[in-house]
Amino acid sequence: MGLFGSKKSHQAGQVDMSRLPRHIAIIMDGNGRWAKQRGLPRTAGHKAGAEVFRRIATYCRKLGVEYLTVYAFSTENWKRPADEVSTIMGLLGQYIREAVASMEQEQIRLKFFGDVSALDPELQQLIAKTNEISSHIQGCQANICLNYGGRDELIRGARAFAADCAAGKCRPEDLTEAMFGNYLYSAGIPDPELIIRPSGEIRLSNFLLWQCAYSEFYFCDTLWPDFTEQTLDAAIIDYQKRDRRFGGIKK
Ligand code: IPE
Ligand code: IPE
Ligand code: MG
Repeated sequence: MGLFGSKKSHQAGQVDMSRLPRHIAIIMDGNGRWAKQRGLPRTAGHKAGAEVFRRIATYCRKLGVEYLTVYAFSTENWKRPADEVSTIMGLLGQYIREAVASMEQEQIRLKFFGDVSALDPELQQLIAKTNEISSHIQGCQANICLNYGGRDELIRGARAFAADCAAGKCRPEDLTEAMFGNYLYSAGIPDPELIIRPSGEIRLSNFLLWQCAYSEFYFCDTLWPDFTEQTLDAAIIDYQKRDRRFGGIKK
């Protein structure tokens, strides 16, 4: 099995429901190019992309995937023009407001990975409200990476551990991989078995640098606003053909 997913939108075969990944992560990329292809402003692509996230989260819940982590805005995305950044933030606010109203019925719990303290206070309030509602929802957990960077997450974890050492709560030599994982946004969540990047870019762009150690990668050319339930099926089917050895040898 190659590194790249099929370029066709469909792939032969069916998802084996008994071997679903527990955790799928997606880099929601290609919104700008999708809009450009249609002669629309980039912001129209972000709007279409937000709608696709809603559909894919619902589909993951239906399939029985326990965790879906999506990259919505990176620590590097602040480099974009201010009007694009504010449109993205506005769309996120709108999405969260609608999610607050429907998450109990949808059975999708929302969590946020990233430094939300840098966001608009109104958005922070919405996030706090969402976290509160999420604490009593059982269904699929969607983690939205917002002002998230993998290196930033690791630095914050290292600082927090150092602070605990300085406070006498632990010693540097006590640190294990499992313990360090608890200092990250993803504390308590299994690593993603499958990381998907649509839009034709073959890079991680600072996504889940710690958690991806043994993830399977799936890259496809589909732009995020064109991503469908069938694209996700194709990625899962491809993942299910992989031989995951974790450094061991084939049994
Ligand atoms: C992903 O789509 C959304 C964000 C990074 C916020 P892009 O806006 O990066 O779309 P392209 O890559 O320019 O097509
Ligand atoms: C990664 O996409 C970040 C998100 C999808 C939120 P980018 O479009 O920012 O990544 P690069 O710049 O192509 O690496
Ligand atoms: Mg991009």
